[in-house]
Amino acid sequence: MSSTQKKRPMVESLGDWKRTHTCADLRLEDMGNAVTLMGWVTRRRDHGGVIFVDLRDRCGITQVVFRPDVNPGVHKKAENIRSEYVLAVKGKVEPRPEGMTNPKLPTGAVDVECTQLRILNEAETPPFAIEPDIDVNEELRLRYRYLDLRRADMQEILVLRHRVSQSTRRFLTAQGFLEIETPFLMKSTPEGARDYLVPSRINRGMFYALPQSPQTYKQLLMVAGFDRYFQIVRCFRDEDLRGDRQPEFTQIDIEMSFVDENDVMDLAESLTVHLFKDILNLNAPRPFPKLTYQEAIDRYGTDKPDTRFGFEIVDLKAPALASEFQVFRNVLDAGGQVRGINARGCAGLSRKQIDDLGALAGQFGAKGLAWIKVTDKGLESSIVKFFPEAAQNQIRKALDAAPGDLLLFVADQPDIVAQALGNLRLELARRLNLIHNDEYRFLWVTRFPLVEWDEAEKRFVAVHHPFTSPLEADLDNLESNPAAVRARAYDLVLNGNEIAGGSVRIHRRDIQERIFQLLGIPSGEAEAKFGFLLNAFRYGAPPHGGIAFGYDRLIALMAGVEFIRDVIAFPKTNTAASLMDGAPSEVDPTQLRELGLRLL
Ligand code: AMO
Ligand code: AMP
Repeated sequence: MSSTQKKRPMVESLGDWKRTHTCADLRLEDMGNAVTLMGWVTRRRDHGGVIFVDLRDRCGITQVVFRPDVNPGVHKKAENIRSEYVLAVKGKVEPRPEGMTNPKLPTGAVDVECTQLRILNEAETPPFAIEPDIDVNEELRLRYRYLDLRRADMQEILVLRHRVSQSTRRFLTAQGFLEIETPFLMKSTPEGARDYLVPSRINRGMFYALPQSPQTYKQLLMVAGFDRYFQIVRCFRDEDLRGDRQPEFTQIDIEMSFVDENDVMDLAESLTVHLFKDILNLNAPRPFPKLTYQEAIDRYGTDKPDTRFGFEIVDLKAPALASEFQVFRNVLDAGGQVRGINARGCAGLSRKQIDDLGALAGQFGAKGLAWIKVTDKGLESSIVKFFPEAAQNQIRKALDAAPGDLLLFVADQPDIVAQALGNLRLELARRLNLIHNDEYRFLWVTRFPLVEWDEAEKRFVAVHHPFTSPLEADLDNLESNPAAVRARAYDLVLNGNEIAGGSVRIHRRDIQERIFQLLGIPSGEAEAKFGFLLNAFRYGAPPHGGIAFGYDRLIALMAGVEFIRDVIAFPKTNTAASLMDGAPSEVDPTQLRELGLRLL
């Protein structure tokens, strides 16, 4: 026998060592029982000969004790243990001595007195502590994601995510929905972002696109008669990334036949209410409020309003017209708006603080931010002199002003007014700590515009996607006044986040062709890109509609975290990179040759 053969094998099987409990299970009732635990060393403490090890698995932590007098061999071995070593421990459950219990741990009343120890694997010192709430730079966490995911707060989030997907499946299945998978290698669908392309080796020079969403497939499933479909599905979009956007993200994708918008909204609302009850034991009041797109913009300056606080935007055209304030009058003459918000209780803000708010409004294009302080003596501001008493009273009434309030005004074209005041609202709420993470305010935004003018491309583009049905009442305007046509589209908004969006679809070929025309897609191109869908519409497409939830956003809101990267096991950075495995990366030249590709 050679010397290498005589060595102990590197890979030891566990043999008859089987886990009897997780590290969260043991209680006083288990006293005296022989148990086997396996897990990672969170900490090892040496207390004058007695060694304590906190053994951790994804369920919890149990304290293991090694006493020199109980088993000197095992104790000696335990001296070598370091953080993150992987151990298998056999021992007896013992009550902790008086005063040594830890009420914060579910297992805190007991120890396992170790009688046999196996070191299943050693570990180098990790680059950061495996503890909740650590303050570590995110790059390091992402580079060592498998260690980051060992931390209890990340594990809780992934457990939550699992529970939400199971609960979603149970709920939708009970409602008669079928889960059907759709291809990842597909023909490009237009959801408004760039596609991720995959070159075909067998069909040289041809490309698949990764789905921006399964939109066309789910509509084809409706044509195929699967009248209630869902899928928890990955979507891929090559777009500018930020905290709530990842290049690959997950949707709860839903489509239904023989429905109108209220049926889809009703279903999505019941799913949402069910999930918040089932997972967070939270009762979300139904029905969720509904705002039209125009109302949302008018009152909150955005199509995804956060309604956890007030500061609603109010139109002040009438008092502005009744004033001699030239700035306001000129804007109104030019077809603009004068609108304002009541920053309740903010009259005490300093000049500098108000200037900061003005600078913020300026970032969104506002040319100024006029203000009035409401005091016991009346209105105070350099612009008050331009407002006759009747106009002052109109302002007070419109903004429901009381002493102590600060009134803020922006005069400009509608989109700038909306952006500036909408963002001021948010900033004021942040500064005044009015945003509470444990409060959930849902609402629907409906009747979006069907299309918007794209100045760069000099053509109309779909606000939602080109398969969204126009409102029947607006059909006659489709060619004459496209910007005024409203869509049968709806978004579900939670605390200022768009968590789901959908629409009733076009199911008639003639209308779909008119939309392609409006979007400047020539019929040849429409045929090449979507001929398969248009063809399907020749064979009896049922009226249908659907919705998709941004699953990662939903989980982030449920978990109370800010960024969706924190609810995705292996996320990408804002430059679409995976720091852990180094994707994207260069590929072997032979791979490129096989694909018939050459890099420029
Ligand atoms: P939409 O494009 O609105 O609709 O997407 C639906 C929801 O997905 C989420 N979302 C994202 N989440 C993370 N990262 C991203 N890059 C990202 N992009 C979108 C949002 C959004 O509300 N096919 C249609 C749905 C339909 O009409 O049924 C669609 O994809 O929360
Ligand atoms: P002025 O008369 O230009 O000094 O402006 C008086 C006040 O009106 C200042 O507080 C300006 O910030 C504000 N203001 C100027 N232009 C606008 C505008 N377009 N909208 C709102 N406030 C403005």
